[in-house]
Amino acid sequence: MVHFLHAPITRHWRLRPVRGHTKRDFLSLHDLTIVEFSDLLSFAAAVKEHPAAFRDALRGRCAALIFEKSSLRTRVTFEVGMAQLGGQAVYLSQADIALGKREAVKDVARNLARWVDVLVVRTFSHAILEEMAAQAHIPVINALSDLLHPCQAVADLLTLREHKGDLRGLRLAFVGDGSNNVAHALAEAAAKTGVHLTIATPRGFEPHAGIFAQARADAVLTGASLLVVYDPADAVHNADAVYTDVWTSMGQEKDAERRRKIFEPFRVNSYLMGLAKPDALFLHCLPAHRGEEVTDEVLDGLHSVVLEQAENRLHVHKALLLALVAESVVPTGIEGGR
Ligand code: CP
Ligand code: NVA
Repeated sequence: MVHFLHAPITRHWRLRPVRGHTKRDFLSLHDLTIVEFSDLLSFAAAVKEHPAAFRDALRGRCAALIFEKSSLRTRVTFEVGMAQLGGQAVYLSQADIALGKREAVKDVARNLARWVDVLVVRTFSHAILEEMAAQAHIPVINALSDLLHPCQAVADLLTLREHKGDLRGLRLAFVGDGSNNVAHALAEAAAKTGVHLTIATPRGFEPHAGIFAQARADAVLTGASLLVVYDPADAVHNADAVYTDVWTSMGQEKDAERRRKIFEPFRVNSYLMGLAKPDALFLHCLPAHRGEEVTDEVLDGLHSVVLEQAENRLHVHKALLLALVAESVVPTGIEGGR
């Protein structure tokens, strides 16, 4: 095991296939052990600090980006990330390939696996991701599904760690839709790192029971706690960081009006932030619906780290691509480490 913050960097870090498999996928943070998650954070920090060392690590490699939904951050950071690692990316929108309509999901996956080295997939249904992972002999990365947004959560925890140091024992409040992909991935990430996460959400929007139960198993080992409350003030009181996301996720647009009414008391404004610790951070995965889940003064305020989260998506995606795709590549130019 390599701890990049404490030891010289001599090799890049890999997510090795588990027994009986030839490749590793990244569909959920639950797929990673607690140690692997910690090492991924450290590796992403190393990639961020030493970008030149990994410049050619994916030369000749190609990622297919299959996106059923819109994206700014995820698409650009995977495309730029592949370019910075010496490889390339092919972007395929739903208009291009009509996944599951023009062609069966398994046929798309099996064809692409003959030409490219990794599939980066944003879907509505999480089951499509699982099917692609089962059908392709190359790694599949979840670039967001209706259920989970694991890439986001890694960047979020990296951002928190950069500001607060040790993650263990930090108090994180998520205010908003507790049943969405970002909240779910955050619960998994908090549980793996010993972060105390309290989700404030309206009744009926509690997190997926299975995901929470899995995360709680990790929490027992790391000392994390995972709570659901119905009053935002209860979650934010004394928090080290406050996180929110849109009230209406992609694909739920028809329900937007009803959600606006239900979530009205869950807006993150200066009053709510005032209940957190004086140096509390504000996080948001973006895109934000300004004036809905968060006010401009909080989003643009001094405590907001949303652009750092967005930047860290790039470093985390590069680390993930290296961990899953590169083989036996020794980075250059950082002999001796720090
Ligand atoms: N946070 C995030 O995933 O942004 P995009 O939807 O723009 O990729
Ligand atoms: N919950 C949001 C996250 C966007 C990055 C959505 O799924 O639309």
